[in-house]
Amino acid sequence: MKRAVVKPVKSPFDIDCNDIASDKSISHRCAMFSLLSSGVNRIENFLRAEDTLASLNIAKSLGAKVKDNGSYIEITAPQELKEPDDVLDCGNAGTAMRLYCGLLSGIDGSFVLTGDKYLRSRPMNRVAKPLRSIGAKIDGREFGNKAPLHIRGGKLKAFEYESPIDSAQVKSAMILSALQADGISRYKENLLSRDHTERMLKGMGAEIVTNSDGWIEIKPLTKPLSPLDIRVPSDPSSGFFFAVASAIIPGSKVKISAVTLNPTRVEAYKVLQNMGADIEFVEKENIYEPIGDIYIKGVDKLKAVEVSQNIAWLIDELPALSIAMAVAEGRSVVKNAKELRVKESDRISSVVNSLKACGIEVEEFEDGYAIRGGKFKRATINSYGDHRVAMSFAIAGLLSGMEIEDIECIDTSFPNFFEILSQITEIEL
Ligand code: S3P
Repeated sequence: MKRAVVKPVKSPFDIDCNDIASDKSISHRCAMFSLLSSGVNRIENFLRAEDTLASLNIAKSLGAKVKDNGSYIEITAPQELKEPDDVLDCGNAGTAMRLYCGLLSGIDGSFVLTGDKYLRSRPMNRVAKPLRSIGAKIDGREFGNKAPLHIRGGKLKAFEYESPIDSAQVKSAMILSALQADGISRYKENLLSRDHTERMLKGMGAEIVTNSDGWIEIKPLTKPLSPLDIRVPSDPSSGFFFAVASAIIPGSKVKISAVTLNPTRVEAYKVLQNMGADIEFVEKENIYEPIGDIYIKGVDKLKAVEVSQNIAWLIDELPALSIAMAVAEGRSVVKNAKELRVKESDRISSVVNSLKACGIEVEEFEDGYAIRGGKFKRATINSYGDHRVAMSFAIAGLLSGMEIEDIECIDTSFPNFFEILSQITEIEL
């Protein structure tokens, strides 16, 4: 088990983060959507981290040819996806498992999706149930809710489905199944969750329309999609750790370059702005997504905030946001965030226990927590196998020093995290 000791920062810093990890959600989709295309998909800046390499390896097991040209990869799909001769390992990646469930449900063959011990304990019925209702044959442990999952792919019926949860993973799984169904399907969620799937598939020629009442209409594919030609932007969820770093160290400045500015992805920066941080967004181009730079400046004092809306837009950033809340003036509250309990760890209890260990006053609710801003003290924090918990408390270490145990999980999404952090402070690895 690897550990890291982060030393307190000595003075305000000013860094230009132009090597933030590539976007994880978009990279997963590049690997998967290439399978639905004919021709050569050219993907620059694909995220080479454990989660997304798992998706790419699965694409290879299904027959895709992948050529690595260093700065970009080329993916060529087979004419027909092949039945793999082994299990498909999603590692720690919920996105890989849930989206492949949707994609493989409509493909002839037998597929077994598995993952690490954390992923095998996460609920899969949120995709398996709606998929079963349209004819998919999916089984697994605990009455089909837990991986390993077995999928016997076959014919799927068109559907109309109003999702009880705002989840891009559920939406994407259903859209991928709808592309193979026997008619036009309709999908609706309460709050638009991250919409990379719709944007990218439309860009590849899929007939997907989002109506003004929120219903998404998906026509089945009649021919393969056009190949992708994309440079994956940087991941705003990864960049957010450094946004919080500068927000909590008065006088510090950070520039996060070439990041997706998709509104479903930058909400946490807006919350940090409401807390008083000085934040500017500069849009530069639009390729499938708006892309640009984010500038963050730390101020003398952050103020407390209440967060109970747009939770799907904040779900990955709430652990890092909790660090800013823990130094803000007043009592911050997070509500309606029960989904945090089924992420890479139960993030409500991981955040609450870890903040308590650092001497911060926290109250736990079933669907969130309240944090009274105070002063961090150095502690030894376990990551709970959750990359975002590990990185959040490494950032808190800038204030008081911190020891983080079990840091291997950081490689699932942000392998060069400590390299960037070492531009700000001393780290013992
Ligand atoms: C993701 C969607 C989100 C997010 C996850 C990546 C995606 O999960 O937490 O890290 O790429 O679709 P949910 O859709 O389950 O909320």
